[in-house]
Amino acid sequence: MSGLVAVGSVKGSPGVTTAALGLAAGWPMRPGGAPVVGVEADPSGGDVLGWYELPAAVGLVSWAAQARSGRLGLSGHVQQLPGGVEVVAAPVEATAARGAVEVLAGAGAVRAAADTVTVVADVGRVDLWSAAAPVVAVCDLLVVVARPVPVELARVVGREADLTAAGRRECVLLLVGEPAWPVERVAESVGLPVAGVLPWDPRGAGVIAGRPGGRRAPGPLARAYGLVARGLADQLDRRRVPLPPPIAGVPALPAGNARATAGQKTTVLVPGASSPRAGRDREASGWVPSTTVRRGRVGRR
Ligand SMILES: Nc1ncnc2c1ncn2[C@@H]1O[C@H](COP(=O)(O)OP(=O)(O)OP(=O)(O)O)[C@@H](O)[C@H]1O
Ligand SMILES: [Mg+2]
Repeated sequence: MSGLVAVGSVKGSPGVTTAALGLAAGWPMRPGGAPVVGVEADPSGGDVLGWYELPAAVGLVSWAAQARSGRLGLSGHVQQLPGGVEVVAAPVEATAARGAVEVLAGAGAVRAAADTVTVVADVGRVDLWSAAAPVVAVCDLLVVVARPVPVELARVVGREADLTAAGRRECVLLLVGEPAWPVERVAESVGLPVAGVLPWDPRGAGVIAGRPGGRRAPGPLARAYGLVARGLADQLDRRRVPLPPPIAGVPALPAGNARATAGQKTTVLVPGASSPRAGRDREASGWVPSTTVRRGRVGRR
């Protein structure tokens, strides 16, 4: 199943590009599933070209040039990173990146690509004035990356309505580093479900950014991204289960986060708890799914 996952932040540089690449790399390949492509749609300029020393001729700018003539297809603009992750890289320079994002967003090209592939789009900073705002507006799931420190979390507080489009868009928080408080409290204070807590792992982040890590096996950060990506893929799949037909006189359920009010569960990753997959997952990353979230709040077990 394909879809559009937007990954962004509210401020700062908490690790959005790293997260988009990590999630694309860890996205589960399921029977009949769509291929995954990371799209660097950050209007403030890309990093992937520089991180991997890729040729600039293929990527967001070439895709936008083609989209101008009405051909929205993604193929021909994708580059493969060592390790196999497929990306459409943005130009480093902000003016060029913003222009390309504007063209692609205006043409509906990112959304159209998500009909056949799972697009994990780095949208940079999420705000209403961003050139990537139209991409966020049509995404299936918005992942807000933040470091779990008071000043960063405080910036997310109060943005619930615009991040979730007043409950019509599914939106989750992804924490980079372990919070000083229980993850349930973070979710409650911020008003968004927590999709995962990533280990603070500079070496692992460096490997995702193309720096040699000296590891053969995936490190803790790569494993954690795999675990989070599985949870997000499950969330996308559930989203596509058709809603029951409306019953006369009963208001239809809205889309997005509000669907959780109908009892839909969202996985949150917390340390040390048990679940059917806990043994394997804990071994893999140290973080296991356990707690359920309803309507943006973590339920008590
Ligand atoms: N889990 C992590 N542990 C340690 N360092 C990390 C982790 N995730 C990201 N980083 C580091 O944080 C820095 C910023 O990461 P990244 O470029 O992904 O952030 P960003 O939010 O996309 O920033 P920008 O605003 O420049 O687009 C990088 O040096 C990256 O290696
Ligand atoms: Mg970035």
